[in-house]
Amino acid sequence: MITEIIAQELDTEQFISEKVEEIKDAVTDGTAINALSGGVDSSAVTMLGHRALGSQLKTVFVENGLMREGESEQVVGFFEKLGVTVDVVDARKEFFAALKGITHPEQKREAVTQTFYKDVFGRLVRQSGAKHLLQGTILTDVDETVAGIKRQHNVFEQLGIDPQEAFGYKIIEPLIQLRKDGVRRVGKALGLPVELFDRIPFPGPALAARVIGEVNPERIETVRKATVIVERLLKNTDAFQYMAILHEDRVTGMRDGKRDFGLQIELRCWDSIDARTATPTNLPYETLTNLAAEITQEVPGVVSVTYNIANKPPSTIEAI
Ligand code: XMP
Repeated sequence: MITEIIAQELDTEQFISEKVEEIKDAVTDGTAINALSGGVDSSAVTMLGHRALGSQLKTVFVENGLMREGESEQVVGFFEKLGVTVDVVDARKEFFAALKGITHPEQKREAVTQTFYKDVFGRLVRQSGAKHLLQGTILTDVDETVAGIKRQHNVFEQLGIDPQEAFGYKIIEPLIQLRKDGVRRVGKALGLPVELFDRIPFPGPALAARVIGEVNPERIETVRKATVIVERLLKNTDAFQYMAILHEDRVTGMRDGKRDFGLQIELRCWDSIDARTATPTNLPYETLTNLAAEITQEVPGVVSVTYNIANKPPSTIEAI
């Protein structure tokens, strides 16, 4: 049973010093490795890990081919300024090979999870001699997995999976008692820049969580291009999270006076405190029509743009 620490009751300095001690005690004089995606949770864990372990921690950014445009350069740049060296590991081929032909949402999640933890991390751990993986699992990830809603990419123990047995290393999860609002406070206290601690959440399976049907490089590129537009046009809203989703069905559209069986992009923009429940943001109609105009012009093949107006529940924030 994990005891929740709610954001309003969190003493960030005390939390940080306790977690730093716990990480030191677990790793002792060994080495640990951590995967930085540039999301709020993994960024906070990277800083905690560096406080605790310094050069005993190796931080990697796994380029899985599913990230947003320019993400690796941006994240590596931010952390360089914070004095943290990040190695970029190119694993694009492995991820796309694992995702080939899979359309079922949970099977896609499982393919990303297995490739990440077993193949890519298994190899990195063997190469580096690390015995621990430090990662930013938060309580919401555990809740949703245990409730059987979504198999979150990073949850094992609560499903009866022993990472040591399954993958050959132990997992340390210093943020597991927190939710997103608490992690943001810890991230700020750890000296992360506002661009990182206040970043909109981004899921472990990355853009694969936003492609309905098969995930392949071409379909990821479509959703990536739409994501650039959505993030640019919605960044000044106070929304919790916003995204573009690529649908599987083709719809009839027209281009240059001819029929075009085109692609459909669904937009979602959520108001939420902690991701457990969420409501669609009441965006100005003009914002929506600007989004539709830019996406249909700039993203090849898209003929339809819709806005999701259902709450979570019964919707979820991501599409898979
Ligand atoms: P859902 O889609 O379950 O998302 O309503 C709730 C929040 O969690 C994020 N999310 C994930 N985060 N690994 C993560 O670290 C995952 O596998 C994952 N799936 C969803 C989602 O972006 C939202 O903020």
